[in-house]
Amino acid sequence: MPVHYVTYKGIKFPPAYNSVHSLSFAHNEFLVRDDDVFNITYPKSGTVWMTEILSLIRSHGHPIWNQTVLNSDRMPWFSTRLGLEAALSYPSPRLLTCHLPRHIFPKSFSHSTAKVIYTLRDPRDVVVSYFYFCQIKPTHSIVYFPALLAAFCLPSVPHGSWFEHVRGWMQMKDRENFFFITYEELKQVGILADPPAPNVLMLVQNASFTAMRQNPMCSSILLPADIMDQTKGQFLRKGICGDWKNHFTVAQSETFNRIYQEKMRGLDVAFPWDR
Ligand code: A3P
Repeated sequence: MPVHYVTYKGIKFPPAYNSVHSLSFAHNEFLVRDDDVFNITYPKSGTVWMTEILSLIRSHGHPIWNQTVLNSDRMPWFSTRLGLEAALSYPSPRLLTCHLPRHIFPKSFSHSTAKVIYTLRDPRDVVVSYFYFCQIKPTHSIVYFPALLAAFCLPSVPHGSWFEHVRGWMQMKDRENFFFITYEELKQVGILADPPAPNVLMLVQNASFTAMRQNPMCSSILLPADIMDQTKGQFLRKGICGDWKNHFTVAQSETFNRIYQEKMRGLDVAFPWDR
């Protein structure tokens, strides 16, 4: 069945939660508060993981909030139809989530001191994760890996270009209220904290892949099958770095590298996968 995406400012969004009104409201009218904290990602980069981490930081590592309240209520998706209402009634300081590219992020952010935490991931692992996500999301129509890879590079995937998303947000890299981290660095956190403080240890344990898989408040297992059908695969699928090596052919890898070099030219940052 063809999926009718919602298009806003040239970017298409999955229709289940998004509307032109919610996106336009988020862009033009949403009032950012100075004490807001935004969890921003391109899809499949560790969004839900960062939601768990930030919720646990707020709870000083104690997991009770994470285990009793849905992640989407702890950190509403403020640019979506349902998330918008939750965000408007959320008492300060708010934790908020989105996949918005920089150019359609709330205009009121420009003059605020609200914090942005931007998590990004090796784009090749993003494509692989996206590929499996498409199998369990009825709103994502591409189920053939070469087709998804081509769509990712064009780009014609929902949420727009990974390359533009990263370039747009990385323009803020020198701002005090902007912090970026990679999925690959997050995987090292447990190793770096040696010996970790008790709160850090609790946080690392409760935000671990294993703990998250067992927590229905973040594993998406409670979603109805027409939104996410986890009989076809798990949302928290593998949680590893470098799975692209099991999926890209040599030719696909070479082509992707060429496109990556072209599209990221002039970006003055070296990510773990560039080294
Ligand atoms: P995989 O499909 O590669 O397993 P998002 O939340 O942006 O949709 O990202 C989902 C990806 O993040 C999935 O990747 C998921 O398994 C991974 N992920 C979520 N929590 C994680 C954790 N605690 N540790 C490692 N990876 C995690």
